[in-house]
Amino acid sequence: MSDGSVGVSIRNASRRYGTFLALDDVSLDINPGEFVSLLGPSGSGKTTLLGVLGGFVMPSSGSIRFGARDVTYLPPHKRDIGVVFQNYALFPHLTVGENVAFPLRARHEPKSTWPERVARALEMVELGGYQDRSIAQLSGGQRQRVALARAFVFRPKLILMDEPLSALDKQLRESMQIELRHLHRRLEATIVYVTHDQREALTMSDRIAILRGGRLVQVDTPEGMHDRPATAFVASFIGEATLLPALRAGGDGVSVGGTTLRCAKPLPAAARLLLAVQTEKLMVAGPAEGPQDPALNRLSGRVADVIYQGESLRVFVTLDGGARVSLRQPAHYLGRLAIPAIGDPITVLLHPRDTIVVAEDEA
Ligand SMILES: Nc1ncnc2c1ncn2[C@@H]1O[C@H](COP(=O)(O)OP(=O)(O)OP(=O)(O)O)[C@@H](O)[C@H]1O
Ligand SMILES: [Mg+2]
Repeated sequence: MSDGSVGVSIRNASRRYGTFLALDDVSLDINPGEFVSLLGPSGSGKTTLLGVLGGFVMPSSGSIRFGARDVTYLPPHKRDIGVVFQNYALFPHLTVGENVAFPLRARHEPKSTWPERVARALEMVELGGYQDRSIAQLSGGQRQRVALARAFVFRPKLILMDEPLSALDKQLRESMQIELRHLHRRLEATIVYVTHDQREALTMSDRIAILRGGRLVQVDTPEGMHDRPATAFVASFIGEATLLPALRAGGDGVSVGGTTLRCAKPLPAAARLLLAVQTEKLMVAGPAEGPQDPALNRLSGRVADVIYQGESLRVFVTLDGGARVSLRQPAHYLGRLAIPAIGDPITVLLHPRDTIVVAEDEA
């Protein structure tokens, strides 16, 4: 992309703690300027992989390159990276300006350049003029912004972040996600971002890398992750999916609880299949639907519950086969008109392209 960023190449990286494999043969290429999130449940190896990139954790085997440079055994301070952690790690006795200037001091950058660079970094996180404040005077969100400014003040080509927003409340976290996205565009740096929050990963990332038990399960764009989950684990981890046992019904069809559904994509070769019914892919069949489209999959059942959630209504449906799925309907009255009362019959629609069948995971 630009010379403000660097590509990262991880080759067969593993990390053992005794006999335990925290990172298991991970290979991943990150493009210059890309925003990649490492997503996975607790203990899946996200922080370990980030540590390997930052030089805080030595891989037991494998190699790491930044561009053409092999950095596998380079200490952190020689890697030219910016780092942001969950707990800010600011120096409480220094001012905001002194905190942000810290990496410039550590790198022996000419002192005359500091004030302007610090001012510019603070402006980028919307803390212009905050140089002389003490850290104690700042809110949690402001502290995290200072930590961000400190991470990029020296214009690193790669920035590593480990759950930097998890200490913030929901509203602030969501606005910071959007800000980080914009900041990433302006900085042009490559960003590797650790989170266990799939929504956060979807909001910010160019690509998401899903980890499970130290292994890389799938690397894809946010949309690709939804459309082509490689395993049942990915399908249930991304978004809100219900997994239902599915049987081959010939050609592009699967049978789920006695109903045959058509799939636009080829079925996996595995013996045991699951239909991943994603909440956001279902629609209530209503009077507004018009002539019945034979190309759509139809699932019938009864309304089990309707929950008002502000911007949407969550509708729970017990399908005729007994399985429970849910969908969202807009909370405005046009959306509500389509929903029968609790206990009444309902038909939900699923497009063949949204009919996602995955192999049942081995373990
Ligand atoms: N220094 C260590 N010694 C022994 N085991 C470790 C060490 N560091 C990490 N582990 C183990 O490696 C596995 C992966 O840890 P890691 O911190 O990378 O997970 P994570 O995905 O970042 O989880 P979380 O979301 O909880 O932060 C865990 O089972 C952890 O207990
Ligand atoms: Mg972690």
